Amino acid sequence: MHRIEVLTLFPEAFTGYLNHSIIGRACERGIVDIKLHDIRAYSRDKHHTVDDYPYGGGAGMVMKPEPIFEAVEAVKSDIGIDNIPVMLLTPQGKLFTQDMAGHLSREQVMILICGHYEGVDERVAEHLVTEQISIGDYLLSGGESAAMVIIDCVVRLLPGAIGSDISLVEESHIGGLLEYPQYTRPPEYRGWKVPAVLLSGNHKEISSWRRNQSVIRTAKRRPDLLEKAELSEVDYQILQSLSTS
Ligand code: 6GU
Repeated sequence: MHRIEVLTLFPEAFTGYLNHSIIGRACERGIVDIKLHDIRAYSRDKHHTVDDYPYGGGAGMVMKPEPIFEAVEAVKSDIGIDNIPVMLLTPQGKLFTQDMAGHLSREQVMILICGHYEGVDERVAEHLVTEQISIGDYLLSGGESAAMVIIDCVVRLLPGAIGSDISLVEESHIGGLLEYPQYTRPPEYRGWKVPAVLLSGNHKEISSWRRNQSVIRTAKRRPDLLEKAELSEVDYQILQSLSTS
């Protein structure tokens, strides 16, 4: 079983999310065990202080190192493994990718530390964590929503979390090309028709239409992805026709 240990000042923020659909079912089926740890519980002073003013001055508060170190050490000793990925969620981190999710899904355990306030004492980053992760180039008020993103990405890759082998197909898709457009019934809605090829029953034509749509969509929306994608001669012809039209 995969184990995820989340260290946060706001454990309540997770409960609704973790009980929903794929993640909730994966927990029920024993595919993953997600434990929430309140960092405040590891603060030893009588006011359960978890943050303090920044040395050198400046706005906001900084998370103190002691409760975070002690929480991670307690979790590690409970698990009985020392060599565990310990990830600090911070806008200063490395960008989270599908590739990273794949690697993490093959680990037995991971520890996620949610940063908050103006930041976390740098000694946590330097001497406790193995990785600092950001989920994108925008600022969140805390690492909790980022942790939920990571949990979602990792859990859906665990064997048995999603019916069948769809995830494997998808995994090769993402980072390659964007997904083609999908349609369902009705065949016509408010005058907007589903592309005829999808109703044709011609599987060869359908799959070539989908491939072309993926290539076109990627070129228009995420040209950065095209550089790394494996493209066929036909794909290049499609791109060629885009740039000349
Ligand atoms: Cl992990 N934390 C915060 N506070 N902001 C972020 C982020 C994380 N990833 C992107 N923005």
